[in-house]
Amino acid sequence: MFSRSEDEVAIRFSHVDKTYRLFKNDRARFYSVFNKRVKHETIHANCDLSFEIKRGEAVALVGNNGAGKSTALKIITGVITPTSGTVDVNGRVSALLELSAGFDMNLTGRENIEMRGFLWGLNKKEIAELTPAVEEFAELGSYFDQPMRTYSSGMKARLGFSFASSIDPEILVVDEALSVGDKRFSKKCIARVKEIMSGTGVTVLFVTHSSSAAQEFCTRGLVLDHGRLTYDGPIKDAIEFYDKSNNM
Ligand SMILES: Nc1ncnc2c1ncn2[C@@H]1O[C@H](COP(=O)(O)OP(=O)(O)OP(=O)(O)O)[C@@H](O)[C@H]1O
Ligand SMILES: [Mg+2]
Repeated sequence: MFSRSEDEVAIRFSHVDKTYRLFKNDRARFYSVFNKRVKHETIHANCDLSFEIKRGEAVALVGNNGAGKSTALKIITGVITPTSGTVDVNGRVSALLELSAGFDMNLTGRENIEMRGFLWGLNKKEIAELTPAVEEFAELGSYFDQPMRTYSSGMKARLGFSFASSIDPEILVVDEALSVGDKRFSKKCIARVKEIMSGTGVTVLFVTHSSSAAQEFCTRGLVLDHGRLTYDGPIKDAIEFYDKSNNM
């Protein structure tokens, strides 16, 4: 049985490690399947990472390039699995990352949205309600019914954002995704994310290199450095810690 406070944990990382092995070339990678002694470099993308995020919290994940932020988000969304340690995620996760990944370029925008809705577990009626909302937000005009191979990269990202932000998530993870499309559309995206975040009980984990955005959206900050958690506290202190560690 879970206690009440246990119920309220949205995301929990316990001693999570994610390592990647880098080989000299594909041939070396192939031989490593049979021979564990093939030379390689081990990258610790996440290293003994432990933290807890409560339901309804808005947390920023900050750190330099390669610190392990996207790795942690991908573990939360289930795109990758940790090498060791455990991760608990309680709630439906919607991810604003790699927005145009996973679309079938031969299907139209509409067909892709219907497919995603289906994979997300929505029924026919729910998909029929969702699709016009996504269509309207994405502003693709008649391209919504054209095969996605005819879209520009900005158009694909707009469709991805429109879907991921339309499905009422319990947990929203955002990875630098707020500069989707052109300036005007990006503004619209920021407003949409703010709207989602103001909903009660929505848990948000937000990766950004902008300390002003982090402070605007989040109350707590986690600082990552070479895969390790180096700070966990109020957002203002976290940003100060991060800036100091970069001599700023
Ligand atoms: N598929 C992969 N194979 C090998 N190494 C990887 C892979 N994915 C990530 N890495 C490595 O793991 C480390 C962490 O990467 P990650 O993408 O999590 O960083 P990040 O904090 O999101 O950086 P950025 O601010 O640049 O987005 C980096 O050293 C990266 O090169
Ligand atoms: Mg990243």
